[in-house]
Amino acid sequence: TGAITIDPGYKNTGSCKSEITFLDGEEGILRYRGYSIEELAEKADFLEVSFLLIFGELPTKNELEKFENDIRKYTLVNEEMKNIIDGFPKTAHPMGVLAALTSALTAFNPKSVNPHNEKEMYDAVCKTMAKFLVIATWTYRKSMGYPLNNYDNTKGYVENFMRLMFELPTEPYKFDKKVIAALDKLFILHADHEQNCSTSTVRIVGSSHAGLFASISAGVSALWGPLHGGANQAVLEMLEEIHNNGGDVAKYVLKAKDKDDSFRLMGFGHRVYKNFDPRATIIKKAADDVLSALGVDDPLLDIAKQLEKVALEDEYFKSRNLYPNVDFYSGIIYRAMGIPVGMFTVLFAIGRLPGWIAQWKEMRLNKEPIGRPRQVYTGHTLRPFKEVKDR
Ligand code: CMC
Repeated sequence: TGAITIDPGYKNTGSCKSEITFLDGEEGILRYRGYSIEELAEKADFLEVSFLLIFGELPTKNELEKFENDIRKYTLVNEEMKNIIDGFPKTAHPMGVLAALTSALTAFNPKSVNPHNEKEMYDAVCKTMAKFLVIATWTYRKSMGYPLNNYDNTKGYVENFMRLMFELPTEPYKFDKKVIAALDKLFILHADHEQNCSTSTVRIVGSSHAGLFASISAGVSALWGPLHGGANQAVLEMLEEIHNNGGDVAKYVLKAKDKDDSFRLMGFGHRVYKNFDPRATIIKKAADDVLSALGVDDPLLDIAKQLEKVALEDEYFKSRNLYPNVDFYSGIIYRAMGIPVGMFTVLFAIGRLPGWIAQWKEMRLNKEPIGRPRQVYTGHTLRPFKEVKDR
């Protein structure tokens, strides 16, 4: 088999060819299927972008309407799923519950989709988009002890997210167009990012021909970690800590530089972007716009801006090309919308779902072989077994 090259973290290893997302880390370019992220974030909506990622082209008006209606066909989640949720303590982290519930969907949909059958694949896409959104909001309802809401088929996908989260039996949810538009944009910005940790996980799990729900559940778990999607929660907690300790950002920059301290500036740095993260640029502006539109004055936004300024002027961050990433400002917007910090990574997961589906589908249609990296063995050479009495 020849010599094996080890590449920890796969920093220089390409795992596949893909037509979905183009990313140029030097230039700060991100495109879905050839369309720039800036243009999509401004002009498209989340379901349109989901369709584009998964099926390769922007939908026509009819295709888009059909897609939205076909998703609605699957929004009723099996009642028995509620028993599963009831088994979790209220204090369970929503991401853990979401991974478990996504996996549990396999029990109610035991037949694995055949990706080569277009109709079957289309139905599976709609079903996944539908059920995932509903169960994602249920993780929050559970943590609050609220009754679980069902999807309202007269409302849009992103509207439903807010309604499912916040509508109480005694109090209809009041939609705010600005909030829905901002959330829609945030979902678009998170929708795909080529072979990141969770997407690679989805592809590798799916490469054993495990089903779509099982693969996505694995993606949720990968996303949860603070070095990946979990960073959005970690950023907010970091900003709160800085605020509660008197707002001394320079102290935290020093801490992040200290190699004996495991603290890192959360929301800073990226494996691929070495100049700037185009998503962060859009989100920073959106944070200003949304907070002023909602009349929210959040001291954490000022702390974030100061922290960014101090870090960007610092030689440590400059020489390592560390810039704010997508997670740096997103939490401040979520907070202004009234979304609790424990749900931030769940929002990332909802946004990333179409990307995971698109990549899973592409991987299967390209008939990729099972993902099975090699290793270099560094353990013992052959040694004789010792009976337990002799050890
Ligand atoms: N704070 C302080 N130092 C950092 C940071 C940071 N946030 N990020 C990287 N560095 C340093 C790191 O210590 C290393 O220094 P040295 O060369 O002296 O050893 C150098 O920069 C290169 O970092 P790395 O860890 O080798 O880079 P990586 O590509 O393996 O890791 C990363 C990328 C995103 C995991 C990392 O930058 C990080 O931990 N950032 C904080 C967590 C975060 O914000 N994650 C969200 C990523 S973007 C969206 C997503 O994927 O969810």
